[in-house]
Amino acid sequence: MSKKIIHFNAFEMNCISHLSPGLWRYPGDWALRYKDIEYWQNLSQIAEKGLFDAIFIADVIGVYDLYKGSDEAALRTALQTPVNDPVQLAAIGAAVTKNLGFGITAGVPFEHPFPFARRLSTLDHLTKGRVGWNIVTGYLPSANRSMGSVEAPHDERYDQADEYLEVLYRLLEGSWEDDAVILNRETGQFADPAKIHHIIHHGKYYDVEGIHICEPSIQRTPVLFQAGNSTRGMKFAAENAEAIFIAPPTKEYAKTAVKNVREALIRAGRQPDDAKIYILATVITDQTDALAEAKYKDLLSYASEEGSLVINSGWLGTDLSQYDLDAPLNKIQSNAIRAQVEALSNSTTEDGRVWTLRDLIKLSGIGCQGIKIVGGAKTASDQIEELIDYSGADAINLGYATTPGTHADVVEFVVPELQKRGRYQTEYAEGSLRHKLFGKGDRLPENHRAAKYRKGGELWSVDDYTNTGRKRA
Ligand SMILES: Cc1cc2nc3c(=O)[nH]c(=O)nc-3n(C[C@H](O)[C@H](O)[C@H](O)COP(=O)(O)O)c2cc1C
Repeated sequence: MSKKIIHFNAFEMNCISHLSPGLWRYPGDWALRYKDIEYWQNLSQIAEKGLFDAIFIADVIGVYDLYKGSDEAALRTALQTPVNDPVQLAAIGAAVTKNLGFGITAGVPFEHPFPFARRLSTLDHLTKGRVGWNIVTGYLPSANRSMGSVEAPHDERYDQADEYLEVLYRLLEGSWEDDAVILNRETGQFADPAKIHHIIHHGKYYDVEGIHICEPSIQRTPVLFQAGNSTRGMKFAAENAEAIFIAPPTKEYAKTAVKNVREALIRAGRQPDDAKIYILATVITDQTDALAEAKYKDLLSYASEEGSLVINSGWLGTDLSQYDLDAPLNKIQSNAIRAQVEALSNSTTEDGRVWTLRDLIKLSGIGCQGIKIVGGAKTASDQIEELIDYSGADAINLGYATTPGTHADVVEFVVPELQKRGRYQTEYAEGSLRHKLFGKGDRLPENHRAAKYRKGGELWSVDDYTNTGRKRA
């Protein structure tokens, strides 16, 4: 059996320090240009040149203030603060590319699903079906405080996300029939109102009645990304996501995490490969192994230990300033990214020890808790192939040390080597992001939860009254 084609995403954020705090000071780094359209367009073109599936743009609404109980260290190190809105970047990048996808992150607790459905349709129209949505439930209590709400307990956040998606599926999949748009210039009829349905949703968190106010886009529902890998998070991902992101600290744990995700997909009534699994890894490469290793050493000398403690405190949901450097990290009770706590508890360091704070700091100076791959084109490609083949994952979600340098290096050195080995695409497939990923059309498949909310589906719930209460003619 031939080995699978390996896919890449560029993992980005509309901020100065995403996963490698301190590196914005590195000579030639462009992180400070994150406010410029040209910066994002250049990055998009680099990713498209490398035939990446997408740029995946992370986001948080809130500031990392668990470390020492204050936001001072986050602000001092620019750790994911300031952070600009990710949504516009998809349209900006799509304007200068033809095939690259754009995965934007937006948090369920922070926007009502009705306007958000419009945002998604708008982006899918503007990108011609190249948009993905990373569904997140939030893990920074500061975000809730700023929005005047209280952070819900970890698992309940996913209950709300379940209902949020129900509303979106009703709007995006169940409101407009495919032939609702008539566009008859002679009669002047744009649409047939009888084929545009008022959805009815009354739930615990949302009450939505009315039509979706955009006409259907190419994918209708964008490609669904998700990165929650706790037990509850994985159930949610398995029922909804098409691209699932994991951040294992080791190759061994990656294998466990991939197995867990594939089993969860089966439990959810889907096929084990109905979602692509992306492993977070940062690849530092150059012309030779020696140059790549020297570059890595040089990059590490710019890493901010304080910034690293800030991000890890946020991810693990605990103030790491209170931990001894040699304290084991396997007893943390977290309301934040529980999967990362589980990953550190259920894996060991390379020399077989329980992870300590000292190990975590060493691991996460560049690319946070993700895997690091360092070497010239051949060595890096060997390691990437091994990571994918050993773990059973499909793809690498590429973190970066410098921008656009780290991604540009991967495109220059690693992509051609993997292509030579027959392990990487040599051209993009046709069509929407979903079709490029799965080759099965633009829309969510019939075995997906969303299909139940389409016309004729068992959960399709609409009426023919307008919002004024008047029955349609
Ligand atoms: C690779 C990766 C990327 C993530 N990106 C974001 C993000 O951009 N914004 C966010 O709020 N959460 C992000 N998360 C957090 C997850 O979406 C999820 O909320 C978190 O993992 C908590 O769920 P869990 O406890 O089920 O893992 C990310 C997690 C991982 C592993």
